[in-house]
Amino acid sequence: MILRRYFSSMAGRLFVVLLAGVLGSAAIALTLADAKRHEDLRRIRLDRLADRINDFLLVADRASELLRAELLSDGVTGIRRATGTEEIRGPDLPLTTALREHVGRGIEAQLAATTSCFTATPRPLHDDQFACWVVSGTLSDGEIIKLQVRGHVRSDPYGLNPLFILVLGTGIATLAFIAARMAASPLRDLSNAARALGRDLERHPLPERGPIEVREAARAFNAMQARLRSYVVERTQMLAAVTHDLQTPMTRLRLRLEKVEDSALRSRLIDDLGTMQALLREGLDYARSLETNEPFARLSVDSLLDVVADEASGGSSPVVLAQRCGCDIEARPRALQRCLANLISNALKYGGSAEVSASLTDDTVHIRVRDHGPGIPADKMELVFEPFFRLESSAASAVEGVGLGLTIAKMLAEKNEAEICLRNHPEGGLEASVVLKRGVTKSAVFADPETAMAM
Ligand SMILES: Nc1ncnc2c1ncn2[C@@H]1O[C@H](COP(=O)(O)OP(=O)(O)OP(=O)(O)O)[C@@H](O)[C@H]1O
Ligand SMILES: [Mg+2]
Repeated sequence: MILRRYFSSMAGRLFVVLLAGVLGSAAIALTLADAKRHEDLRRIRLDRLADRINDFLLVADRASELLRAELLSDGVTGIRRATGTEEIRGPDLPLTTALREHVGRGIEAQLAATTSCFTATPRPLHDDQFACWVVSGTLSDGEIIKLQVRGHVRSDPYGLNPLFILVLGTGIATLAFIAARMAASPLRDLSNAARALGRDLERHPLPERGPIEVREAARAFNAMQARLRSYVVERTQMLAAVTHDLQTPMTRLRLRLEKVEDSALRSRLIDDLGTMQALLREGLDYARSLETNEPFARLSVDSLLDVVADEASGGSSPVVLAQRCGCDIEARPRALQRCLANLISNALKYGGSAEVSASLTDDTVHIRVRDHGPGIPADKMELVFEPFFRLESSAASAVEGVGLGLTIAKMLAEKNEAEICLRNHPEGGLEASVVLKRGVTKSAVFADPETAMAM
């Protein structure tokens, strides 16, 4: 599975192409070099054999008749007079050519069976590495001479040494692996950056380093991020400005409405105006949640819950802090606080009460806000995060709201690198959880949640 993933990645494919390409061309180059080496060795051996025969003929040419006879019968030099009993296999053209270059015209070599040569002398060790030729030539006094010549023919086997191939293969594979990683890593960085950009437009720009193409891509990406940020800032500022500026005339309108004499009409108009003001407030809040660039800071989850619960319990509805976790996280404090405040406000609005708890499992903190209200139908769990979406149930529509609370809460959770999950509790009511993972540690003071609860 891991291998399949690797080979379908860009790095894996580059690795295969590099490995096959370099290994293939290295194998071809080495085979050609090996063939050339064999050809050179064969050539050198032929030249040496031709030299030996030439030297022998020169000595025999100048020697006295007695010495010549002795030289020809002796065979110590690996050359002696032919007996005529040799089994001739056929003319040896390469040796004949070499001999004609060294000795001159009129000399000829024929290959003979090794076993039919030097029958009187003991066979040399490694007999199979020797060959035998019958060479016929003419001495300067006109004597036609036929010689038995024994020569070395052993050659290295063709093919490459397996150990050499192993070392070469390992070296090339390592290099190909590193090169493929180097080539693919900027692409991976770019895709990670693009994914992170969707969550946080304020993320640090990509480092502009490396080869020209990578630097160019990073520069283009950073320019795109800056442009996107400026568009968003421009539009949210516009939204914030419009909603903000509308508040003053609306307040004036509210005051003027008091003067309407028909009391039924007045109260309807005041209700409508209240809805409009809520819409504006939420719109402003939504704009702010898009814009937030509050820095991350370490904070104690328990202290944060204290503050949130405290602020929310201002009215008559109870907010209970049911469990503490005794842990710290890294978060954007105000954004997280507003996110939880929205969840608590929903619990109070639709469930009549809110039970807040925090727990730590592995490296994750779950902050849960639970109520005892009607909950949300399972098929609407995702829809309630859409802007301006409200359930149509009579209970929900009886409560005032715009339909932005959960949208804002989700946005603020994402700003904290957290997730929001909703579920209907088995014992009734809705449970909203914020799952936080960034910089989770146990608090130094409250290492044990039990102790923390007791305090
Ligand atoms: N705790 C809850 N119990 C039951 N239904 C809920 C709960 N929280 C949210 N909902 C449903 O989800 C809808 C969307 O919630 P959201 O908070 O986004 O908007 P709202 O509460 O209607 O308006 P506001 O923008 O003022 O928060 C609500 O209208 C409500 O129908
Ligand atoms: Mg709400």
